[in-house]
Amino acid sequence: MERIQYAPYIDKVKSAEDAAALIENHAVLGVSGFTKAGDSKAVLPMVAERAKYEDLKVTLLSGASLGYDTDADLAKYGALHKRMPFQADATLRKHINNHDVLYVDQHLGQTADMLQKIDTFKIDVAIIEAVSITKDGYIVPTTSVGNSPIFTDKADKIIIEINKSFPMSFLGLHDIKVLKKQPNRDILPILKSETRIGDPFIKIDPSKVVAIVYTNKPDAPAVISDPDDKTKAISNHILEFLGKEVDEGRLTESLLPLQAGIGKTANAILAGFATSRFKNLTMYSEVLQDSTFDLFDSGKLVFASASSITVTQKCSDKIFKDFEKYKSKLVLRPQNISNAAEVISRLGIIGINTAIEFDIYGNVNSTHITGTKMMNGIGGSGDFARNGYLSIFACPSMSKGGSISHIVPMVSHTDHTEHDVDVLVTEQGLADVRGLAPIERAKLIINNCVHPEYRAQLLSYFDNAYRLGGQTPHILKEAFSWHTQFKTHGTMHINTYANCDV
Ligand code: COA
Repeated sequence: MERIQYAPYIDKVKSAEDAAALIENHAVLGVSGFTKAGDSKAVLPMVAERAKYEDLKVTLLSGASLGYDTDADLAKYGALHKRMPFQADATLRKHINNHDVLYVDQHLGQTADMLQKIDTFKIDVAIIEAVSITKDGYIVPTTSVGNSPIFTDKADKIIIEINKSFPMSFLGLHDIKVLKKQPNRDILPILKSETRIGDPFIKIDPSKVVAIVYTNKPDAPAVISDPDDKTKAISNHILEFLGKEVDEGRLTESLLPLQAGIGKTANAILAGFATSRFKNLTMYSEVLQDSTFDLFDSGKLVFASASSITVTQKCSDKIFKDFEKYKSKLVLRPQNISNAAEVISRLGIIGINTAIEFDIYGNVNSTHITGTKMMNGIGGSGDFARNGYLSIFACPSMSKGGSISHIVPMVSHTDHTEHDVDVLVTEQGLADVRGLAPIERAKLIINNCVHPEYRAQLLSYFDNAYRLGGQTPHILKEAFSWHTQFKTHGTMHINTYANCDV
């Protein structure tokens, strides 16, 4: 019982099954978990199991995506009415796109504010993973903080899952504070990535705790492919660009705190910093992937702040075996602080995120495949793109054997407008569009970022659109022709733009 230092909780220890039985049909659940890290591994899967046999539908709010098959099983067994603010699961994605599950895709920094502003999502039960419980009954989280502090603050009942697979030495890793409701919010005095402003635990009202469940299951490991030629080339273009910023006196070799998005492209970009000229780097991000720990090991990175640690099995074995080595260089925060506009703006974050596609004027689609089908969600990319010092978006120029160009005439869904995007990059090259008008941007983006197979086609679209006039020239009836061509013919290749009179 060394993990529960608060005696009144001892007789609340239950099986996962008994704890899940406390959840009622139509309940709103607020659960820990952020990009597979620190999620419920016993009680929430048991909710999915119950839904197999009984009428049970819940609204599920989390930090971000969950690990293992939890989201998939909840969706498959019909347990989800509504899901927010992020997911990254193939089965759940299918149910969302089939309208079986309602999905609210939200800026990850804004869920906590929403819960304070509107009553629609009164949290019935919070399910939070912990490494231990303090002598006052407070929760020491595991590998993520996410939205757990606001969930426990708002919840009627709290279920705690104590995960013995994480070391007790996690105490001291987190920095937690529940912000006051707007407009009475205090200034967030975070002046550097390493500044701490809160407690190393989530303060809760112990009388809300209805069950404590023990687990021993580690986080589901991240699966990330190694950098390949394309992602390495993207990384090199970004490093070269940042090097030029240093040479021209706008940045120092420590740059500014880095934020990197999720997925293989973002991981590869960050990995490139290990052999770069930059030194004493810091991160103020939301997810720390393998590359963060490689950068610590290479001596390039001195501190990283985020809301979660999401790593592969190999990296997890390395860092949790020798956690003291990394702990003093890390802090995990609630996601409305890791992604707070105020802090991102003050620190001048360099945000590097991945696009599904972008257009000739620099608008970015991060979420919807061909404009309608949800992929994952916007995550925190918008929090960083709008508020940081530099907003960089990257993706390959072309994929699926050349059938998809990731640069299109007009994005089929807009997550980040041209006003929030400074730099666009593919393996072909980089376009620094700061201070450029739309028609200047278009030429640079087409020449620098588009794959040669699609360059003439995109130039032809732009030239014809340009002749029609307008601040941001488009041929409306052809703006989405690349997407419709892909849907009908399986490729974005189009021979000519003959009709350009609209
Ligand atoms: N048309 C059709 N499919 C596309 C596409 C396009 N324009 N762009 C990407 N895809 C598909 C890829 O083909 C791939 O599918 P597959 O697995 O069937 O091959 C899938 O989307 C993922 O793309 P991938 O190239 O593997 O990129 P990634 O792992 O770097 O992820 C995003 C890219 C955009 C999906 C991912 O970064 C994301 O979800 N971003 C939004 C959230 C975010 O930015 N968070 C940042 C803060 S953490």
